[in-house]
Amino acid sequence: MIMENTLAEQHSSLPIWHAPLQGFTEQIYRNLHHRFCGGVDRYFSPFLRVERGEVRRRDLRDLQNDSTGRLTPQLLTDNAHDLEILLQAVTHLGYHDVNLNFGCSFPLIARKGKGAGILSRPDAVRDVLSCLRDHPEISASVKMRLGWSSPQEAFSLLPLLNDSSVCEIILHPRLGCEQYKNTCDIASFARFAEECKKPLVYNGDIRNVEDIRRIHDRFPRLRAVMIGRGLLSDPLLPATWTSDTPPSEADRLSVLSRFLREMASQMQERYEGDRQALSHLQPYWDYLLPEAEKRLRKRILKARSLADYRQSVTELIQSLQNS
Ligand SMILES: Cc1cc2nc3c(=O)[nH]c(=O)nc-3n(C[C@H](O)[C@H](O)[C@H](O)COP(=O)(O)O)c2cc1C
Repeated sequence: MIMENTLAEQHSSLPIWHAPLQGFTEQIYRNLHHRFCGGVDRYFSPFLRVERGEVRRRDLRDLQNDSTGRLTPQLLTDNAHDLEILLQAVTHLGYHDVNLNFGCSFPLIARKGKGAGILSRPDAVRDVLSCLRDHPEISASVKMRLGWSSPQEAFSLLPLLNDSSVCEIILHPRLGCEQYKNTCDIASFARFAEECKKPLVYNGDIRNVEDIRRIHDRFPRLRAVMIGRGLLSDPLLPATWTSDTPPSEADRLSVLSRFLREMASQMQERYEGDRQALSHLQPYWDYLLPEAEKRLRKRILKARSLADYRQSVTELIQSLQNS
């Protein structure tokens, strides 16, 4: 039997950072992932931004009551004015490190020149980075793609990034216009790694321990790997990577079962009515446990009440335990 969150604190090789995923890696998930699954060195919130002159209260509430002790707020902006507002809001909550989103590929954001859309706007990047210089109390990292429409965008920005006060760069080697199509451009990542003077973190398409090992072997000087969808599919991947004795399949399913049960209870407490809670719980099953029987996953996704949901999750876990 595994104690909560002891799987992963034993030794560390390459640290794993949990990528921000809007709609998934909010407070309840982060706190419970850390408590039950562990192994993640840093969590990042989904992005906060300025709307009508202020930061949404709901987004700020999400940063409160963090029990991971390793949360970095992510900020999305293309200008110094809004960055000041965002920094003031997060420092007020006690955060002194932030991550800048230069990689969001949602067309609605990118078309406004934000997220991956900022990568073709060196003046906007310069404005944001110079604002950081005025805040030596803040430690900032950048999460970026190779560009919106060409990897040349990232290489053109490198001198600016190298000369900035940014502490780390996380690079997802795809273009914004590709969204998630095509494979990661490892050759461009390698070139970027050679020319980048900041500690670098790899992000993109890591699904299992072999993928982490392959990336680590190819880029031994990485500061960390950041994983998103791979962690939604296998929340125990970081524990499996960092532990000397990876969890058995039985232990893994038992931890997952408790993690999912607690998540359902907390969502029920947080949201009014089954429908709202289910709308926050069911999307995880677009990713979770892809090895499970399709029929059982479908039942979870179609559940109309929390009782039905819980029963279907129990049956799915049991079917994996018996297989
Ligand atoms: C549903 C979803 C929501 C995301 N939300 C964010 C976000 O808020 N901020 C961000 O920087 N990236 C966001 N991303 C991108 C991920 O952080 C990550 O860079 C991307 O999924 C590639 O990593 P992966 O292959 O390990 O998933 C999101 C991705 C998905 C699929």
